[in-house]
Order: sequence, then structure tokens, then C-alpha cells
Amino acid sequence: PRKVRVIPVVVHIIWKDKRDNISDRQVHSQIQVLNEDYRKKRGTKGYTRHPLATDTMIEFRLAKVDAHWRKTTGITRTRTKVSVFQLEQMKFSELGGKDAWDTTRFLNIWVCRVRGGLLGYAQFPNGSRSLGQEKTNTTDGVVIGTRFFGRGGSAKKPFDLGRTATHEVGHWLGLRHIWGDGGCDKDDGVSDTPLAGRPNRGHPRQRPHSCGSEDMFENYMDYCDDNVQNVFTYEQAQRMNATLTLYRLGLCE
Ligand code: ARG
Ligand code: ZN
Ligand code: CA
Repeated sequence: PRKVRVIPVVVHIIWKDKRDNISDRQVHSQIQVLNEDYRKKRGTKGYTRHPLATDTMIEFRLAKVDAHWRKTTGITRTRTKVSVFQLEQMKFSELGGKDAWDTTRFLNIWVCRVRGGLLGYAQFPNGSRSLGQEKTNTTDGVVIGTRFFGRGGSAKKPFDLGRTATHEVGHWLGLRHIWGDGGCDKDDGVSDTPLAGRPNRGHPRQRPHSCGSEDMFENYMDYCDDNVQNVFTYEQAQRMNATLTLYRLGLCE
């Protein structure tokens, strides 16, 4: 990737318990983490000397104007009667959530309590193809559980460094899990990530091996704790930039 691309972001905070109405500061900490990680910024946790680690050249900024070109902070706040959201429910105002802003122009991030204590989930870029225009336009974006959003503050260890959003945005930009969601016969479609037979979790003390090679457990698309993750590879960065070009071009400023 040669040129920096900036993605405008809107964060929708949906809350019932007022502790879930997290601060602007918490939101800003998350945007900062995304920029540190995607730009592999020196002096931050997103920096590493790992030989395959790459600056993706993708940046994130809270939107300065909304879908109707009015000034905005890029943060919406919605009070709800819903204690825990089912999948996709948070994306609809009439279901107690908040409707997306034009998904061709913004990365929508919903922050709320999600069923099953899920850390987060994302919609893949090609969702549109099979599912039809309507579904994509109304549900495109990523969802992050309130306790896993941002750095410090309301976020709970070991998922308190904002890496859940780094991971979910990776999916949103077309990346699969590094173990390919299967055994050694399943690949993630990325040539410079080693085959892996399963996810790694926690904080491995020794480098795990599977499928005859060392696992790249530091990859953002594996499942280790937030303080372990710090790698997007060159080919992952290429994939994400290609996704922006092919599916999400209207989005970049
Ligand atoms: N389980 C979630 C997913 O597959 C998120 C994993 C996030 N990992 C982390 N270290 N924060 O999309
Ligand atoms: Zn994932
Ligand atoms: Ca691979």
C-alpha cells in the first residue's frame, strides 16, 4: 500500500445502564488504537519488529459531518430499554437500537451489550453480493461489546486495549481468521500467513506450532489477548486495501 486512506467513522453508543453510556474519551481512545495498529505506529503497542508486520496505510477519523452534511462529533448516543441485544437488533432504531448512517460513506461501529457476552462481530464486504442490497446497506459495519471497546476505562482485561475493534475491522475489510476457521486443510486465503490448525488464545508462553509450522499468534486475526496482538502482514494489508478499492471506495475521504 502506497497511499494513506482515511475512513470516516461513526460510533453509535446504545445504553440502558448508564455505565454503558461510555465517555467521548473512551471513544477517542478506540480511534487512537485503530490508528496505532493499522499504521504500525512507532512507540505504541501497535509497533513491532516482527519481519512480516506491515503498516496498512489505512487510518480512521470520527466523522466531522453526518449523512446530511451537518456538523457532528461522529458519536451518537441512544438510550434503550433493551438490556442485551440479539445479533443485528442494535442496528435498527425501531428495535431499540440505532439505524446505520449511510454505509457507503461511513464505517458504522455499534457499541452495546451483545448476547452471550460476545466481544464483537463484523459484516464482510461481499455480504452484499449474496444477501442483496437492502441487508448490506442497513447492517454493514461492526459491533463491539461495551466492555471490550476502547483502551482502559470501561474496558475489561484481557480485552481492554481496543484490539477487538482492530480484529473486527479486519473482517469488515475482508480478512478471515488466520487459522481459516478450520483444520490444516483450511487456509485464510492470505499467502504470507502460516497455515494454522486452530485459534490460539490467552498469552502463549512458547510459540505454538501447528500444521508443521510456527503459528503467527500475534496476528490481529488470531484470538489471543489484546496485549499479545500486533501484526497485520503485508498480504493482509494488500487484501484490506483491495477491499477498499473494490467494495468500499465511496467511503474514503
Ligand atoms: N471472537 C471475536 C471474533 O471472532 C473477537 C475476537 C477479538 N480478540 C481480541 N483479542 N480482542 O470476531
Ligand atoms: Zn473474528
Ligand atoms: Ca495463510
